[in-house]
Amino acid sequence: MGRFVVFEGGEGSGKSTQARLLAERWGAELTFEPGDTEVGARLRALLLDPATGDLDPRAEALLMAADRAHHVATRIRPALNRGRDVVCDRFVGSSIAYQGYGRGLGAEPVAALSAFATGGLTPDLVVLLSVPADVAGERLAAAGVPDRLEAAGDEFHRQVGEGYLAQAAADPDRWVIVSGTGSIDDVAVRVVEAIDARLPSSASRP
Ligand code: TMP
Repeated sequence: MGRFVVFEGGEGSGKSTQARLLAERWGAELTFEPGDTEVGARLRALLLDPATGDLDPRAEALLMAADRAHHVATRIRPALNRGRDVVCDRFVGSSIAYQGYGRGLGAEPVAALSAFATGGLTPDLVVLLSVPADVAGERLAAAGVPDRLEAAGDEFHRQVGEGYLAQAAADPDRWVIVSGTGSIDDVAVRVVEAIDARLPSSASRP
């Protein structure tokens, strides 16, 4: 089995950039949720298009879970089983933070739904990139028109942040919080140090 590392964080945390850099460093398979399969791309469009408008929170959670189930079955598990390392940009932690905390569905039912979707697959390590709200806001403003979830409001995103911290606190062996402030290179150094400290076998790899 390959190693399975997930990057999590709020909007503008820089996790997609850092996931890409780690995947390049390891020669790993880089993937993301929602949307990194053909079916998933259609679910992503539906989930993120502001034109979708209000979506019942349970429906939103189920669509995220459908994307994850297909993604795990067709991409992540096959890659891990081939011995490939997999770096994934968002996973179960996003559903717990966004649908569990942000939408108020609660962590437990969303975790149970995700466990059904993944068939119990869990990452070896989750890197939570943390940035102050003002830094995230500036990065987001520079990124252009917000999607449906980015536009969900400050209180929603505050709860998402709380949801992430609660998960990291509840599972400190699996989660590591890395500061996402500063340059891309600064953050990348912190990420590599954190991963090498947590996944000892990675230190000897290129
Ligand atoms: P991205 O822009 O980082 O690719 O993420 C897409 C959006 O989807 C982001 O606002 C977080 C949200 N999301 C959820 O709400 N629940 C989930 O389970 C996942 C994977 C993403």
